[in-house]
Amino acid sequence: MRDLAELRVLWQLLRGMPAAGSHAERLERFYAPQAARYDSFRERLLHGRQTLIDALDFQPGERVAELGAGTGCNVRWYADRRAQLQHLTLVDLCPALLVQARTRAADWANTHVIEADVTQWQPAAPLDKVYFSYALTMIPFWQAAIENAIAMLKPGGLLGVVDFYIAEAQPAAGLARHPAWQRWLWPRWFAHDGVCLSPAHLPYLRGRLAPVVLQEGRGSLPWLPGLRVPYYVFVGRKLGAG
Ligand SMILES: C[S@@+](CC[C@H](N)C(=O)[O-])C[C@H]1O[C@@H](n2cnc3c(N)ncnc32)[C@H](O)[C@@H]1O
Repeated sequence: MRDLAELRVLWQLLRGMPAAGSHAERLERFYAPQAARYDSFRERLLHGRQTLIDALDFQPGERVAELGAGTGCNVRWYADRRAQLQHLTLVDLCPALLVQARTRAADWANTHVIEADVTQWQPAAPLDKVYFSYALTMIPFWQAAIENAIAMLKPGGLLGVVDFYIAEAQPAAGLARHPAWQRWLWPRWFAHDGVCLSPAHLPYLRGRLAPVVLQEGRGSLPWLPGLRVPYYVFVGRKLGAG
């Protein structure tokens, strides 16, 4: 039964992201058929999410938002601390995934689930910590999303990102180097599902924030033994007014 559910998700991934329509319409058509089974499949695909949450180290009284939160499944990594936050906002553009998030958060008094574009949404008051988990690669205007996230933070606040990427051809000192075939393969592989693996995201983040944590790794892919795709975990601090 679980395998059948997984095959349905796999079939959706093989069909790919629809080409026509607005960004929001394409997301909805892509995710709606797999929304109920999203969490279990992505568990073996989206690596480093717990590492990011651990690095963000949420404290009682903090105001936090996840941008591109999907079903809200990342809250499980801080389930023990979620109720002590002053406020948690889960923002996403895809109604089908937000149905799952609203069900999950139904009894959480301090949590709001919001349908909005994260290149534009702003909270009522500045936040302590904001994070993207495998969302930046699905946002066409990713620079606008990062700038908007920085604008949400109070001075000294933290922005966290975990996502797939490829290294620059000549990475900065101390950063991982990826062979040319991987820099060729992975962007083409993931583009089919509307996921844009870029060498530009990580340098941009490092340029805009004071780096606190940076880990680069490689994660396995469900049903494809032997292949490992690069991902990074980054946490940066907003300096001054940003
Ligand atoms: C791969 S999913 C990741 C979901 C979740 N963060 C996780 O770790 O499982 C990417 C998410 O980004 C959302 N997304 C893409 N573009 C967006 C935008 N412009 N504004 C808000 N959410 C967006 C999608 O709807 C989707 O839920």
